[in-house]
Amino acid sequence: IKTIGVLTSGGDAPGMNAAIRAVVREALGKGLKVKGIKRGYAGLLQEEIVDMEVRSVSDTIQRGGTILQTARCKEFTTAEGQQKGAEICRKHGIDGVIVIGGDGSFRGAQKLAGLGINTIGLPGTIDLDIACTDYTIGFDTAVNTAMEAIDKVRDTSTSHERCSIIEVMGRGAGYIALWTGIANGAEDILLPERYDYDEQKLVNHIIENRKRGKQHHIIINAEGIGHSSSMAKRIEAATGIETRATILGHMQRGGSPTCKDRVYASIMGAYAVDLLCKGATNRVVAYRGGEFVDFDIDEALAMKKDISEYQFEVCKNLSI
Ligand code: F6P
Repeated sequence: IKTIGVLTSGGDAPGMNAAIRAVVREALGKGLKVKGIKRGYAGLLQEEIVDMEVRSVSDTIQRGGTILQTARCKEFTTAEGQQKGAEICRKHGIDGVIVIGGDGSFRGAQKLAGLGINTIGLPGTIDLDIACTDYTIGFDTAVNTAMEAIDKVRDTSTSHERCSIIEVMGRGAGYIALWTGIANGAEDILLPERYDYDEQKLVNHIIENRKRGKQHHIIINAEGIGHSSSMAKRIEAATGIETRATILGHMQRGGSPTCKDRVYASIMGAYAVDLLCKGATNRVVAYRGGEFVDFDIDEALAMKKDISEYQFEVCKNLSI
């Protein structure tokens, strides 16, 4: 391996810059050349490739977003697109590519590996929905951002003695909802993984709590369930308690990464370069059982994970 490329793909996540910085500096330190591929696979196909030097990543570790920009690229899901991508890598002398993104991005890396370009994936998504790893770059910042926002909504909810439905991101996964549910002491959490949604039960819970003197009722609703605004209208009609919906949206993806996201992303970035130097390909870096490890991408994509039943129960039991 002489030259490596690095790209970010899919939704951006805080900490991606720390990972890029680590890749660039670890690789340069090992005498490799580094090319930054802009706008994910879309930029690869457009040959938006720039040389990265030590100073290209100065003053970036504390910044949210991704300095390489990102995109979701349909063309790269086709065999022609993948072939073209591999040829462009060869044309630019890129022997290895580090792909920072989610499962969809790893599928692209898997295809590139099959076409002879060594690839390593780094888990970058606020959703924590990558089965092989207990940690994904950006999740920690996103839950902290959501937690602070929910605290603020709770203040006004209590003052007005309202019920608040707060919708958090996560695509089909409920990890952000579960974590903020516990951290914010929500009265109810609605998760796609435990979707036995019974609105009458929810209404009864709100009325019961109000009788017991609770001045607010916070419901964290996962994006995978959605429909928070219509839910709020129905709940207000059924309970007679003013109910508001707040959809936190993309603010959860931005902001300066937490210490954990900076540190873990940095370690993962360096780890990915070390793997490429050992000749590894089609691997994904993960954090599991308290250690940084790596898996074959095919294996990683076939793994499944679920919300912890225990954590879900804890959340429910504590919101009394
Ligand atoms: O995967 C990250 C994520 O923010 C999800 O939580 C959300 O469903 C999706 O991306 C939103 O994507 P976009 O920014 O393309 O609307």
